[in-house]
Formats: sequence, structure tokens, C-alpha cells
Amino acid sequence: MKVNNAEFIISAVSPKQYPTTNLPEIALAGRSNVGKSSFINKMTNRKKLARTSSKPGKTQTLNYYKIEEKFYFVDVPGYGYAKVSKTERAKWGEMLETYFTQRETLKLAICVVDFRHPPTNDDVQMYDFLKYYNIPVLVLATKVDKIPRSKWNKHEKIVREGFDLDPEDKILTFSSETGLGMNEVWKYIEEKIK
Ligand code: GTP
Ligand code: MG
Repeated sequence: MKVNNAEFIISAVSPKQYPTTNLPEIALAGRSNVGKSSFINKMTNRKKLARTSSKPGKTQTLNYYKIEEKFYFVDVPGYGYAKVSKTERAKWGEMLETYFTQRETLKLAICVVDFRHPPTNDDVQMYDFLKYYNIPVLVLATKVDKIPRSKWNKHEKIVREGFDLDPEDKILTFSSETGLGMNEVWKYIEEKIK
């Protein structure tokens, strides 16, 4: 998909703020600082559509971006950020549970992981949670520009085994730095929002 139109719609914390247009949604889940917002920017060719930062824990709300009047990217706040208080973490958990269990227009959750490292316990928990609720999952291994190609197979195996990934679930490699993998990811997304 060639994106000419991408716009920020709303930062939502509860269902009454979710858009009511019924367009399909693709959610980005993953550890804080893994590259979810950078992914949205790269895919839409926009440097600052989604806020990114070297400071983790920036995204605290479900941020909706409308793409070409066709679907929404939903930037989900990242987990695993140590400096978040217990109360905030509980609120975060509730917000995500509500979203993922109730959102009927959700077509795909993209679990974003750092290709350099094995999935964390939080990553695995998120994946298992999504599978439990029968939400289609794509694992997106990002920051692949930081790994030499000769080691990709090895790293892919580590990711697959770390998640104990269902054979039906795919891992796609991606880099927000170089745009590597963009076409494959677009193909995958276009299938899901048909
Ligand atoms: P939270 O909003 O805190 O959950 O983080 P996030 O997952 O949205 O991460 P973000 O997109 O803000 O990226 C975090 C940092 O990683 C930034 O400094 C990005 O420039 C960097 N980064 C993201 N993707 C890539 C990538 O593919 N390659 C490289 N080299 N750096 C990346
Ligand atoms: Mg972010």
C-alpha cells in the first residue's frame, strides 16, 4: 500500500473514545522502546506521525492513526518499563484487557520484538494472552539492521522457540531504519483488512 494519507485521530483510554467508523484495526503491542511508533512512521512514510523517543514509556494511551480511510493503526502503550508505578501498571493492564477482549474491529495484533534479544516473559505473556482470545497475531522482529544477515536464521529460531510460536503464526523481519521488510508487512496487513 502506498500511503498518501495518514492522520492521528485520538488518544483513547476507554471504549467510549474508540472511533465509531467500523474500519478494521491493526494493533501494535510490545515492550517499551522496541520500536512500535517507529514502525508506524516508517510504514506511513511520516517522520513524526507517531511520537517516538529515546525515553521509554512515552506512549500511555491507545493512539489511533487512520490510514487512507482504510484502517487504523493502534499504537498500544509498551510494557516492561520499570519506572511505572503499580497503580499505573494496573490501569494499563485494565485498558489493554478491555481493548483486546472487546474490540470487534481488531483484525490483527502485531507483537513487536527486538530481533537482537530472545522474547521476554512479558512478550510471551502478551502472545499467550492474544492467542487465548483468538486474536490473529503477527510477530514483527524489528531492528534487524543491527544484526548481520548471516545470523538472521539463528535469531529467528530463538524468537520462534522463545514464544513457542504456533506453526500458523508468522515472524516477519523489519527495520524502521532501512525500511527492510516493509513490502512483506504491507502484503500481510492488506490480506488481514480485506
Ligand atoms: P514506547 O512508546 O515507549 O512503548 O516505545 P516504542 O515501542 O514506540 O519505540 P520507539 O518507536 O519510540 O523507538 C524506540 C527507539 O528505538 C528510538 O530511538 C528509535 O529510533 C529506535 N528504533 C526503532 N526501530 C528501530 C529499527 O528498526 N532500527 C534501529 N536501529 N533503531 C530503531
Ligand atoms: Mg511509542
